[in-house]
Amino acid sequence: MNEKQRLESQQAKQQTSFQKQEKDYSQYFQTVYMPPSLKDARKRGREEIEYHKDFEIPDELREIGQGRKFYIRTYGCQMNEHDTEVMAGIFMELGYRHTETIEDADVILLNTCAIRENAENKVFGELGHLKPLKLEKPDLLIGVCGCMSQEESVVNRILQKHHFVDMIFGTHNIHRLPQILNEAYMSKEMVIEVWSKEGDIIENLPKVRMGNIKAWVNIMYGCDKFCTYCIVPYTRGKERSRRPEDIIQEVRQLAAQGYKEITLLGQNVNAYGKDFDDMEYGLGDLMDDLRKVDIPRIRFTTSHPRDFDDRLIEVLAKKGNLVEHIHLPVQSGSSDILKIMGRVYTREQFLELVRKIKAAIPDVALSTDIIVGFPNETDEQFEETLSLYREVGFETAYTFIYSPREGTPAARMKDNVSMEVKKERLQRLNQLVNEFSAKAMKKYEGQIVEVLVEGESKTNPDILSGYTRKNKLVNFKGPKSAIGQLVHVKINEAKTWTLDGVMVEEREAVEVNCNG
Ligand code: SAH
Ligand code: SF4
Ligand code: F3S
Repeated sequence: MNEKQRLESQQAKQQTSFQKQEKDYSQYFQTVYMPPSLKDARKRGREEIEYHKDFEIPDELREIGQGRKFYIRTYGCQMNEHDTEVMAGIFMELGYRHTETIEDADVILLNTCAIRENAENKVFGELGHLKPLKLEKPDLLIGVCGCMSQEESVVNRILQKHHFVDMIFGTHNIHRLPQILNEAYMSKEMVIEVWSKEGDIIENLPKVRMGNIKAWVNIMYGCDKFCTYCIVPYTRGKERSRRPEDIIQEVRQLAAQGYKEITLLGQNVNAYGKDFDDMEYGLGDLMDDLRKVDIPRIRFTTSHPRDFDDRLIEVLAKKGNLVEHIHLPVQSGSSDILKIMGRVYTREQFLELVRKIKAAIPDVALSTDIIVGFPNETDEQFEETLSLYREVGFETAYTFIYSPREGTPAARMKDNVSMEVKKERLQRLNQLVNEFSAKAMKKYEGQIVEVLVEGESKTNPDILSGYTRKNKLVNFKGPKSAIGQLVHVKINEAKTWTLDGVMVEEREAVEVNCNG
């Protein structure tokens, strides 16, 4: 299918869902109007995944950025950060220049996140701030993209209350940025292009990476897990994996350019390869192949416990450039809650997985994500989360109060837990998380660790900072020439979240057992 046919087929699909909507917003648009549909986003088609290498900037659009500057504000996860790098790449190919100053920009994009209500509130707050800027500079283009654009309710709210927005486009429409910008310049109406269902992978999109030390590499897109609380499967489409040869080539190129650390990205990286019907090749196989690439560190995020198989554990145990840190979101310690969350594992199965990982990689550092206050969570069930945390001995965690997301099954559940109780639970959990983090950090005192130096510390230019293999932030005294390098640091003092130390010579590091 070529680009035009693809667009027409999407248009046809979208048209039906649009006709079903009650309100008619047609007064606000005349050009492209393809709104999202959560119902369509839920469907998982059987159609083949198509790989495209045909991204091209049309000749007539090559100059549209001349003399103009773009600004992108990114919310949400690494996936969104990486999408911003792609959009920045497209802007640059269109002749735009980048600016960090919002007032200087001719195009402002908000690359949004829909994971929790407060993420969405931040974006609506920011839109409020942008309105006066738009009134002052009518030629300014304001666009909303990312996961929130995939939600019908968000698009409707923008149509009703934020008429000054010029463009809304979805996570599957990033490669259409040149055409969307062009439409927005040509038309006085809001341009909306959000495909709800997309199974394609476009390989040759340009990218401007944010750093030159660490890089993100997508290995797959989308999520088919449909955990009952989560909006991601609706906003990111179905699971689809990039071909291994494309990933390996990208990592090799990054290594050749001098990058020192790669994070492989996917919402559920353990499902990597399940969609290949021509070969048996999973995340373990990919990691085993990437292990041979000459780059010091490779991480991945995020793994789902359900598909974490023995092959992957066996490969990670070979270490080398595969770091001994695994982020393994558990969400809850109660099997009953896990069942209603649709996580498809029990507390016992999770603990068994942790046991296997620790047996294969004894010095592994585990971190996790936890949701408290899921509908009807009892005190006992919450206590089970605390006890699981202790039993696993996670070194750190991201913790959240459950936030209902429109269109997800959990949002329709009755909930008898008050916000006060949810907040108390979060506080108790956070105390435990802090305690365990402090304990994990304390062990580093007196040890020598390998640090990938990222730059000067944010608060003191005389101090450098970087991360260990286990992702601990280290602040230390050292020469500026160490930036971008792997160095050894002796830890003098451990704080709850960071380590302080001094750089040591390679020789000294080899003599002491280097930990990281
Ligand atoms: N794909 C990842 C998660 C991405 S979202 C995974 O499955 O591990 C990051 C985290 O946000 C989730 O792990 C979960 O803890 C949290 N989260 C997702 N939806 C949420 C919701 N509706 N309310 C509160 N937290 C949520
Ligand atoms: Fe959301 Fe679950 Fe998919 Fe993670 S695995 S993105 S929590 S649906
Ligand atoms: Fe947010 Fe979308 Fe990522 S909802 S967490 S930006 S996939």
